[in-house]
Amino acid sequence: MHDGNRLKKDCEPVELLADSSNLHPRKHSITNTLNQVLVLSIIILLIITVIAILVGFLVTGRKLHRMSSECLEAACPESWIGFQRKCFYFSDDFKNWTFSQRFCDSRGADLVQVETIQELNFLLRYKGPYDHWIGISRELGQPWKLINGTAWSNCFPIRGGGECAYLNDKGASSARHYTERKWICSKPDAQLEEWSEVPSSTFFTMATLHPE
Ligand SMILES: *[C@@H]1O[C@H](CO)[C@@H](O)[C@H](O)[C@H]1NC(C)=O
Ligand SMILES: *[C@@H]1O[C@H](CO)[C@@H](O)[C@H](O)[C@H]1NC(C)=O
Repeated sequence: MHDGNRLKKDCEPVELLADSSNLHPRKHSITNTLNQVLVLSIIILLIITVIAILVGFLVTGRKLHRMSSECLEAACPESWIGFQRKCFYFSDDFKNWTFSQRFCDSRGADLVQVETIQELNFLLRYKGPYDHWIGISRELGQPWKLINGTAWSNCFPIRGGGECAYLNDKGASSARHYTERKWICSKPDAQLEEWSEVPSSTFFTMATLHPE
């Protein structure tokens, strides 16, 4: 009993002492921890911001890279000329209309089906002095048709009495299909095909999934 009291008395101050000496450091350590947490979260926030900015730069950079590489890697095959989202091939040889269309077809194209005045002016400017077959033809006495059989828009006159149209110095004329001329093929440019196949929403995913 006595021993127990003494022990208690002896112990109490020690306990208090221990308590009071513990109280301050704990308060201290709590504010310390709070500060550390605050600093840590600020650092983490900063790191996240920096990463976000870096990722942003990387993505736009890759986007730009993709775009610029698409611009540089011409949308048209070598020795084809691009104009208004089409690629044009001007032949060196002289062949009949049937062979010319077959040639274009073998290159994934058709004899050019001149659809606008701008396109006509472009072709007249680039074709040089020679006559060139184009992809407009008819059964004699019938309206002009495109390669796929649909009616031609008649946006400029085609002179002459032949069944196959060609471009000369003045514009368009026509001749019999077996006569031999140079020719012009055309097809949609690769970029146009690619863009129409890929919706813009998948652009980001594609860029991140398939880095070069
Ligand atoms: C035929 O070809 C022209 C020119 O390429 C195109 O504008 C038109 O839509 C085509 N028509 C059909 C039915 O495929
Ligand atoms: C067109 O030219 C090709 C190749 O030169 C020839 O084989 C073919 O017989 C010609 N067709 C006509 C209708 O002249």
